[in-house]
Amino acid sequence: MASFIRSSKPLCSTVLSNLWKAQNLNEKIGRKFSTSATCNMVFRQLFDSKSWTYTYLLADDESKEAVVIDPVLDLVDRDINIVKELGLTLKYGINTHVHADHITGTGVMKKRIDGFKSVLSEKSGAKADLFLADGEKLNFGKYEIEGRCTPGHTNGCMSFVIHSEKLVFTGDAVLIRGCGRTDFQQGDPRLLYNSVKSKIFSLPDDFLLYPAHDYLGMTSSSVGEEKKHNKRLTKSIDQFEEIMNNLKLPYPKQIDTALPANLVCGIQDDVA
Ligand SMILES: [Fe+2]
Repeated sequence: MASFIRSSKPLCSTVLSNLWKAQNLNEKIGRKFSTSATCNMVFRQLFDSKSWTYTYLLADDESKEAVVIDPVLDLVDRDINIVKELGLTLKYGINTHVHADHITGTGVMKKRIDGFKSVLSEKSGAKADLFLADGEKLNFGKYEIEGRCTPGHTNGCMSFVIHSEKLVFTGDAVLIRGCGRTDFQQGDPRLLYNSVKSKIFSLPDDFLLYPAHDYLGMTSSSVGEEKKHNKRLTKSIDQFEEIMNNLKLPYPKQIDTALPANLVCGIQDDVA
């Protein structure tokens, strides 16, 4: 059975309660991140209360090889501690895109973990150790994770699919009942709409969907659920464009420090 978040950082009670609800729901519907009776996939959904970012730690319980998706600089100590406690070997740090709201933890992880490689889409325009093209895959233990280009929030957005476990990590392309904004960083509503329809909503309905952020405390969704209930992506492409062009969102708080740092894979020196 997959293990869920037990964050070392206090979470607000609503988020915590929803995390437990999600775990109970997964138990009730019998979802198991398992490919055999004895070896399960380690699955941790970790939370940053400052930027509302979810970081995902995934590992093969047998070989102990692991990947981390969207680590946050401020919480690298937490993430590395969990990796150590579980006896994992962290191979890849994947960024779903060049974030504007927090600095990625991959730069510091590169310094602290032997053999660790940062990963980004080849369309990102930023620095990384490995660049993925659409459809390219990475392995950790017996698991394969496929990168799918899903531009529109940024040019370099990539979603990641683990077919064997029926999981998709959507970055900011699809959020629960919403999606990432399209008013900066090469944002393009029509491109985002088509990316989601062709690369995410084309997956089977029972694939669980994990976003990079969640402002509702809902933790996860599914492809089928978002196809039915997403407040923006259930509209026509013209309606979607109209909505996205009129969100009138405030300028992201950390963008001026986050963007330049993330273009070079995050901060490269150890955190003091
Ligand atoms: Fe973003």
